[in-house]
Amino acid sequence: MKGIVLAAGKGTRLYPITRPICKPLLPVYDKPMIYYPLAALLHAGITDILIIVPPNDQEPFEKLLGDGRNYGVHITYREQQVQRGIADAFMIGEDFIGTDSVCLVLGDNIFYGEHLTQCLMKAKAQTTGATVFGYYVDDPRAFGVVEFDQTGKAISIEEKPQHPKSNYIVPGLYFYDNRVVSLAKQVKPSARGELEITSVNNAYLDMGQLRVVTLGKDFTWFDTGNADSLNSAANAIKQIQASTGRQVACLEEIAFQNHFLDQAALLRIGNELKMTNYGQYILGLLQAKSEQ
Ligand code: G1P
Repeated sequence: MKGIVLAAGKGTRLYPITRPICKPLLPVYDKPMIYYPLAALLHAGITDILIIVPPNDQEPFEKLLGDGRNYGVHITYREQQVQRGIADAFMIGEDFIGTDSVCLVLGDNIFYGEHLTQCLMKAKAQTTGATVFGYYVDDPRAFGVVEFDQTGKAISIEEKPQHPKSNYIVPGLYFYDNRVVSLAKQVKPSARGELEITSVNNAYLDMGQLRVVTLGKDFTWFDTGNADSLNSAANAIKQIQASTGRQVACLEEIAFQNHFLDQAALLRIGNELKMTNYGQYILGLLQAKSEQ
């Protein structure tokens, strides 16, 4: 399975912060925002990753992430010339996807949960159809919202409805079989002029091939679209890390757990960053391993 991070949004709701720097590179507490969606792909065991960036903005992403070797993965970049909507990621990524299945994650979405890895591995293991998630929020109007029938079966998804039919939104993490490329090509722009990911999901729903997995209370999803949500996410990450003593979205740790990186690589990276808490944490992982 291939992985795509869509990190091409202008982040206009965060102006003026995002005028000189694009949103997925902003910090969320102690890491760049894009670490968090990348962590979701690594948790799912995905190693071949395309990052879609805004026009003329590839350089800072490359400076940060390079070709992915520090995380034991392979990262390539493509620019989205015109913001045509999320479903455009499958047209931009068509060659990259090839004949594979694909997981798409939005560059500003953060997922946290003890059982995240199992949950994502399960979605990845499905060979046909699509898997999306349902997450309870108090005010779902700014998102894709799932409607369920009396038996709990998903029967529709609406994008940013005025009158949501449930409190379950579809966060920006989607697993698709290879048909997604041709289905995305058939999507017509919505009233707001975008190729909506919700249209792709509804196409799978109409074929009876969409699984909506509801995430329980042990999962946390953060949206980081505006100053308040960005600040809340940063505070929550700080609090989670302080109370658990574990880093959220430490890419090197996930890579090590998944055997994408060996001890020597982890030691080298930990030493390079040893002046930071992050580097000390990485070195601590090796220490803990040697004491096992
Ligand atoms: C997008 C999707 C929406 C989804 C949300 C998750 O919204 O269109 O369905 O629920 O991401 O972050 P947008 O970021 O375009 O407002």
